[in-house]
Amino acid sequence: MAKRKPKNTYQTDYYAQKAKKEHFPARSVYKLKEIQQKFKLIAAGDRVLDLGCAPGSWAKYAATLVGADGRVVGVDLKKVTEKFPANTRMMIDDVLALAEMEKETLEEKIGSGYNIVLSDMAPATTGRKDVDAARSFDLCMAALAIAQKSLAVGGAFVCKIFQGEDFETFKNAVDGSFKTHKIFKPRSCRKESKEIYMIGLTRI
Ligand SMILES: C[S@@+](CC[C@H](N)C(=O)[O-])C[C@H]1O[C@@H](n2cnc3c(N)ncnc32)[C@H](O)[C@@H]1O
Repeated sequence: MAKRKPKNTYQTDYYAQKAKKEHFPARSVYKLKEIQQKFKLIAAGDRVLDLGCAPGSWAKYAATLVGADGRVVGVDLKKVTEKFPANTRMMIDDVLALAEMEKETLEEKIGSGYNIVLSDMAPATTGRKDVDAARSFDLCMAALAIAQKSLAVGGAFVCKIFQGEDFETFKNAVDGSFKTHKIFKPRSCRKESKEIYMIGLTRI
């Protein structure tokens, strides 16, 4: 008998259950794991800024990659209750507001000289794909503005975007600050989701 293909719901449960077993607070950790496996962006001793970090899976995984000599700073609108090693700091803040700050003020708030800026931010969805994509684009442009002010030369940027009519504009904006970009859809993304990851390589 032919083997049945797993349904999306099964896949969702698979990653959610795996996250639970491996003590991560969200299934999204497997997206960063796939990105790391393919692009090897985070190394021991790195400084990582994680925008939209709640409930904390990416930060927890990044903290293990950077180790005791590295640093992870996470920012989210929501409080993160997950426990982290001593190399990790969590802040409650609005990335849209941080993006408006002058470089010096931003540096006082969140630090600088990051090797990698991650953004897995997502807007509260409305069910209207065009509205959700436009809000995702605003978050991406805010994340890029922060990356431009806080990344070290040679650093990398990983940013989730809901694909919509502004996708090309975002891609061009990333191209203005990085030597090259890659577009990547991890297998662990829900198939029906419009999300995709834009990766800026080598901050100019
Ligand atoms: C998909 S979750 C991130 C999951 C996270 N990467 C993890 O692995 O645990 C998206 C997050 O973006 C945050 N977010 C959305 N808009 C934001 C904003 N303006 N400032 C800060 N965080 C924001 C949400 O609060 C939410 O926690």
